[in-house]
Amino acid sequence: MTAPLLQVRNLAKTFGGTGGFFSRAQPLVSAIDNVSFDLHDGEVLGIVGESGCGKSTLAKLLLGLLRENDGSITLDGRQVSGLPPREARRLRSDVQYVHQDPGAALDPWWRVGNTLHETMRIHGISDAKERETRISEVLEAVGLSGDFVNRYPHELSGGQQRRIGLARTLALRPRIILLDEPTSGLDLSVQATVLRLMNDLRERYKLTYILISHDLSVVHRMCDRIAVMYLGRIVELGETEAVFGSPAHPYTKALIGSAPKLVRDDTSVELIQGDPPDATNIPSGCAFRSRCPLAIDSCAATKPELEEISASHRIACPPELRRLTNGPAASVSSL
Ligand SMILES: Nc1ncnc2c1ncn2[C@@H]1O[C@H](COP(=O)(O)OP(=O)(O)O)[C@@H](O)[C@H]1O
Ligand SMILES: [Mg+2]
Repeated sequence: MTAPLLQVRNLAKTFGGTGGFFSRAQPLVSAIDNVSFDLHDGEVLGIVGESGCGKSTLAKLLLGLLRENDGSITLDGRQVSGLPPREARRLRSDVQYVHQDPGAALDPWWRVGNTLHETMRIHGISDAKERETRISEVLEAVGLSGDFVNRYPHELSGGQQRRIGLARTLALRPRIILLDEPTSGLDLSVQATVLRLMNDLRERYKLTYILISHDLSVVHRMCDRIAVMYLGRIVELGETEAVFGSPAHPYTKALIGSAPKLVRDDTSVELIQGDPPDATNIPSGCAFRSRCPLAIDSCAATKPELEEISASHRIACPPELRRLTNGPAASVSSL
């Protein structure tokens, strides 16, 4: 297999801790804790997990908008971590982001054309002709006519806003696109067309996607591989068929069991009990143990690392528990 396009190793990011000269000490939050994964050229990697598990922080670290406390990020064989944000962003221009709320990301006073020009100008595309050419090309690619350059954001439907969000990112010719909740707030029919468009664009521009979502049906449909996150750590990582077909971590089982559309026998479905623990006060050892029906004393002692359970399918749950987690998804109904 060829070398991964993006390699993330032992990435860590904390917020808070010691206060600055003028500020009081804030509680320490470990938003990303020892995260490692590879992203291969052309694949779609899904990142799922409840709100607050660190999805957006991970995206910002990959984009170079935040500086990691520890670990490394390698893009196309070149280490791009450990740098101040300005330099990190420059080196990571191959990686771009589509905002979770494209309406809010567009300036309400600017016509679409202005926004597209300005985005490219900021990224160093100084030739106006080149920008015009790219604008016509990307509008066509996202299925909008050239007239859309004259529209203001409030003159766009939700679906059209997503298309403009994609066009703006495509104009920068990235290789990797981070899609944050790409279909949230859209009607189901519009969701379907946006997902289809994303697939078409991936083929046309040979793109690699990281798709961040809490919507399991979107991730199931779009992704080649899935990383399941819980409180800053990846707890399960594997091919989509393996993760959905035989989820192995108790958290993944509970998550999939909680998604009514994905299970055949609705009578066995129960939601995960309780909320995730306070991020400033994560349990010792396995962070999921406070909600896990299978937890044993030793789960409090050490943080489980990802270990292979079958070819390219890994979970962070110790072997003693793995025997107990082998049942079907419905076995988490006691959660
Ligand atoms: N700038 C920040 N300062 C302090 N805490 C933050 C900051 N950004 C995120 N966090 C905390 O880090 C954790 C992960 O947040 P986030 O990455 O936004 O999660 P998600 O996108 O999965 O909802 C949360 O506990 C959140 O409160
Ligand atoms: Mg988020």
